[in-house]
Amino acid sequence: MARLLIIVYFTSAFLSSFVPVQGVDRGNFKTCQQSSFCRRCRAMEPSNSAYELLMNTLKVETSSIEAEMINSRNLVTFKFQFFALTDGTFRMKINELNPIKPRFEVQDALVGEPLLEKLELVERKADKISIKCGSNIATIIAKPFRVDIHDENNILISANARGLMKFEHYRLKVPQTDPEEGEPDQVPVINDIELGDEEGAWEETFKSHHDSKPHGPSAVAMDFSFPSGESIYGIPEHADSFSLKSTADTDPYRLYNLDVFEYELDNPMALYGSIPLVLAHGVSKTVGVFWHNAAETWVDIKSKGEVTSGGSVGGAAAGMVSSIVSFVSGKAGSDDGNDAGGEPKGRPSNIDARFMSESGIIDVFFLMGPKPQDVSRQYAKLTGTATFPPYFAFGYHQSRWNYNDQDDVKSVDAGFDEHDIPCDVIWLDIEHTNGKRYFTWDKVKFPNPKEMIDHESAKGRKMVAIVDPHIKRDGGYFLHNDAEANDYYVKTKDGKVYEGWCWPGSSSYLDFFDEKVNEYYSSRYLFNNYVGSTEDLHIWNDMNEPSVFNGPEVTMPKDCVHAGGLWEHRDVHNAYALEHVKVTMDGLLRRTDGRLRPFILTRGHFAGSQRYAGVWTGDNAAEWSHLRVSIPMCLSISIAGIPMCGADITGFFKYPTPELFIRWYQAGAFQPFYRAHSHIDTKRREPWLMGDEALRLVREALRTRYSLLPFWYSLAREHETTGVPYMRPLWYQYPSERATFSIDNEYLLGDALLVHPVTEAGARYVTVYFPGEGKDVWYDFFTLEKIPGVGNVQIPVTIEKIPLYQRGGTIIPKKERIRRSSTLTQGDPFTLVVALDSKGEASGMLYLDDGKSYEFRDGKYIELFFKFAQDKLTSRVVNANSQYTTKERLEKVIIIGMAANFTRAEVESQEFGKMIVDSYYDDQSQVLVIRKPWVNIGSSWTLQLLK
Ligand code: GLC
Repeated sequence: MARLLIIVYFTSAFLSSFVPVQGVDRGNFKTCQQSSFCRRCRAMEPSNSAYELLMNTLKVETSSIEAEMINSRNLVTFKFQFFALTDGTFRMKINELNPIKPRFEVQDALVGEPLLEKLELVERKADKISIKCGSNIATIIAKPFRVDIHDENNILISANARGLMKFEHYRLKVPQTDPEEGEPDQVPVINDIELGDEEGAWEETFKSHHDSKPHGPSAVAMDFSFPSGESIYGIPEHADSFSLKSTADTDPYRLYNLDVFEYELDNPMALYGSIPLVLAHGVSKTVGVFWHNAAETWVDIKSKGEVTSGGSVGGAAAGMVSSIVSFVSGKAGSDDGNDAGGEPKGRPSNIDARFMSESGIIDVFFLMGPKPQDVSRQYAKLTGTATFPPYFAFGYHQSRWNYNDQDDVKSVDAGFDEHDIPCDVIWLDIEHTNGKRYFTWDKVKFPNPKEMIDHESAKGRKMVAIVDPHIKRDGGYFLHNDAEANDYYVKTKDGKVYEGWCWPGSSSYLDFFDEKVNEYYSSRYLFNNYVGSTEDLHIWNDMNEPSVFNGPEVTMPKDCVHAGGLWEHRDVHNAYALEHVKVTMDGLLRRTDGRLRPFILTRGHFAGSQRYAGVWTGDNAAEWSHLRVSIPMCLSISIAGIPMCGADITGFFKYPTPELFIRWYQAGAFQPFYRAHSHIDTKRREPWLMGDEALRLVREALRTRYSLLPFWYSLAREHETTGVPYMRPLWYQYPSERATFSIDNEYLLGDALLVHPVTEAGARYVTVYFPGEGKDVWYDFFTLEKIPGVGNVQIPVTIEKIPLYQRGGTIIPKKERIRRSSTLTQGDPFTLVVALDSKGEASGMLYLDDGKSYEFRDGKYIELFFKFAQDKLTSRVVNANSQYTTKERLEKVIIIGMAANFTRAEVESQEFGKMIVDSYYDDQSQVLVIRKPWVNIGSSWTLQLLK
């Protein structure tokens, strides 16, 4: 059977390029109805919650409160904890008070123990308590249990407002009564009245896969209302719109890391990654909820279309005020008036998310904003910012399943030079190994990997090799032997090593939840263990959902066990890929004693994965719709804390038309991770194989990308210090502009560039939305012309055209000399593009360091702040004690939107004192160019324009 399944998988994978794509086989994946816990959770109706806090057990500490909680229907007791954290964040934890076995609490998504803040007791009454932290007040209502968090005026988040909390306690199974034997002697600890539909609660079968569920039902769920929200975003990964849709008539969005073959677009099915974070955004507030749970999770969304209380945003707001008044007047209980069976009255619920997880505990972070950037920072404080990418990571990556052998790699590498196209990285997929044994090389095809990598290094290029987490079960493979001998594999429920099928055939899976495994695995990356690797070989961790071709839903059975039986796979599933990349990072750091920054790409991901890796959107197809969906997918991933995101350029399955090929390269040039990749059975498609026009335009797109690398790299610095993503939705910078809330065909890079890629076949124009309601000026990035108009503007496009705009008021650093790789541009001079706003001003920043090491952490970097005002451009080194020096110079300043002519500029720097340089003005285009100021770019200087 297993063999048959793997053949079907392989065959469909291999044939996909020849037969029309059929789309996903939905029957392989569960619907909510087919998942017993989802069914049970979803069957609940909004009502008075059964949960109550026992106020006589309430303890108020410096930064937290704690109380016992009871389910009034079955009398199960829980421990409730509520913490005030720094930076306007709260955490709520609910766990069983006396579980019959410990429940899993997520490890490693958080960067560390969150920092506590002192709370202020606002009010304590018999039925509720209010505490204040920062500018927000959390009111915890005992019965029915609910938490409302509000600022001075409005409730911003309300937890369990609809009474949909569920917490299935661990219980003993009631044995079936055998009439012959009389009554069973084992009785349940506490009755099961809360369970509802018991079908599948104790064991479940999906297709031919049986889930033994030895610990029975264990779901947790809670609803969150966002009265100030108008749209809701997040919970990647789904191939769907950026703004989340109501799930009233569909399945909930599913978060369960899965390898979905030929995934379909526009639906809430699960994909490779899961980040249980939502952002609710309204014109005045953005807040977030992070559901810190790694089990399979479904998320029901109510979005604006279904306002149930208040009827309109205005009405909802009125509801908010009245509810605040009732808190203050102490009538919260009666005013809430939760009628069983209906929506609680007076509770605004225009935007609502309900998380339902199969196991674990309720552990929720409330991120109180109030601006989108604040939510990003608050989330980054919890789960970390992204690993600082080496400079080359922003360059172009050329991948394919597979480059056949060393000569092939060399000829692809030479192709870039021959055709004058920059390229930073060449990738090796699974076929480079000796029979899919990771950390090895095919001896015939790649006899001398070190020499091959050194050949790339000589041109400043790097290589990436794939290392998947499944291990070939082969007595001749050291890794398998070590794993068997030392007990490194995930086990079945019966304690045997779990065997599944993946690329190598019969495979077992390393248990990254076991510390001893991690120590061993990370040491595999050491140069003396990974023979043939060098500092310039970086890593691609794929198939780490984990993908198991013959497993239930193409993954590992949930009753498999980790860490010596401590946890079921059910508990930890969504964090398996996180643990995989964490260990890979550890290994890559070890190999250079923490000196060099590694680059890792992962397919599976979870909250916190950004600390180790970037992600790509998996096996897409060479279709226009897949190009289009790459934008909302990467936007969702970006706002969920992983800024390094990309899609397989030109599509993995199938073969692109030349037009799609060009358009995808043009679009990808403005997404953070820029890698072309394709399926083994599709035709080769390096940029010079698609005809002259494609070659020319791909070269152009790539050169534009490379010219902007200093800008990208500066965005990485901004992310590192603030948590804001590189790629941003329009509402992020224009939070009160409602027209931006549903836009997902264009986005911003930083706060400076507006990108609207052409994603339609045969497009003759695109409708670009220029935000700012007339207050901002926009310039075409290429022609430097001012855009006449605001809001939706029709822009004619030819195949050459990339709709890309710079906002007036920004300064973008560029390097205009294009070389074979980004590394080779070190030492090259910079250009600054100063785009003036309506006041004739602009500002920007530039970040410089060695692009590869961690020395920036010891002050070896320069951060520069540029300001243009009153005809003077000023550069200021922000970090005064910088330990980094550069010889790079400023070669050109381009000022766009300049109304007046200036013929000269006086440049003043410490190095040269005062110097006069020429400038050239074009009054038609209103562009002023100042040539060769030649100051050291890493220093403070001024440039005063003179008439
Ligand atoms: C998976 C990856 C794909 C890769 C292939 C072979 O399908 O998503 O990118 O080429 O495995 O390793």
